[in-house]
Amino acid sequence: MYDIENYKIKARPVILALESSCDETACAIIRGREVLADAIISSADTQALYGGVVPEIASRAHTDAVDEVVRRALAQAGLRSADIDAVAVTYGAGLLGALLVGLSFAKSFAFALNVPLIAVNHIRGHIAAAYLEDINLEPPFITLLASGGHTAILHTKSYSESEVLGSTCDDAVGEAFDKVARVLSLPYPGGPNVQKMAEGGSFCVPLPSALVRHGDGMTFSYSGLKTAVINYCHTLEQKGQRVNKHDVAASFQKAAIDPLVIKTVESAEKLGIKTITAGGGVVANDYLRSTLSAMCESKGIKLVLPAKRRCTDNACMIAAEGLNMYLSGKFAPMSVNAKAAIPLR
Ligand code: KG4
Ligand code: ZN
Repeated sequence: MYDIENYKIKARPVILALESSCDETACAIIRGREVLADAIISSADTQALYGGVVPEIASRAHTDAVDEVVRRALAQAGLRSADIDAVAVTYGAGLLGALLVGLSFAKSFAFALNVPLIAVNHIRGHIAAAYLEDINLEPPFITLLASGGHTAILHTKSYSESEVLGSTCDDAVGEAFDKVARVLSLPYPGGPNVQKMAEGGSFCVPLPSALVRHGDGMTFSYSGLKTAVINYCHTLEQKGQRVNKHDVAASFQKAAIDPLVIKTVESAEKLGIKTITAGGGVVANDYLRSTLSAMCESKGIKLVLPAKRRCTDNACMIAAEGLNMYLSGKFAPMSVNAKAAIPLR
């Protein structure tokens, strides 16, 4: 019988985490904040054939990979199932069928081991990735969240509370990278290919800033920026002129990222907070990493930037947030369900 009523919380638990919200089937194992295993099986190459993530293909790929990725993680960590103290899993947001594969596996695993199940919000996982980068990191800090689904600057006040200081009113920054990649006929995944195309490009293409409102409640917009890129390319094509893809990619990258970096650092200064962290796939972008690092250094602000592999989807970040929730006893019932969308509060 599943019974965790009298479960005793440990100070440095061994947590096995699963992530399957999009096209990566990932499993990680941590002991406290120490990473023991980090396994990922990606279906990105298959998805690339279709120019983007096809939900049914993602679900099938997770079904094929989930058993193997857990086996790999246990082998990497040199552990047996019986050594696991809790199972954390992404329950949303993401593709419903994809989430259900990881969630069903995690439920059965926790049930069989009679250990707590921890249902993790994917976005809170991106925020928590920084805790593994610096094992002494403690809130408060300012977080720049930049992924394919979210763009926000947050005041992370405690292990469980993040206040949104500013966010996008339309597309997410990663989504804009992916759409601009399509305009420039670059293959999936868009973000890394726009970054590559931006190499050697100049910032000569006039584009609007992604920041549309300053002051209290900063607002970003990426839909207008994307449309400006489309209009610029179409106008040149109609005139029979060649589009310099390097310049377009470099100018877009700068217009998309500069306001996020500037406003993140300004937010920390305004609130007198001495530490900045970042998370989400776009934080793997080299231009973002170097501009944010340089600005933090010039202002004497400590920056905790997760490794690139921990910015894009992975299970270590789910384990990190799982640990925060474990330590405050936030366990999920076996009836927990997957959620396609969870609002960012
Ligand atoms: O966090 P993530 O892996 O998935 C979501 O939770 O959305 O983020 C994926 C997004 C995609 O839009 C992808 O194009 C973008 O992150 N991305 C990048 C880079 N690597 C991934 N964008 C810009 N430059 C990159 N190097
Ligand atoms: Zn993500």
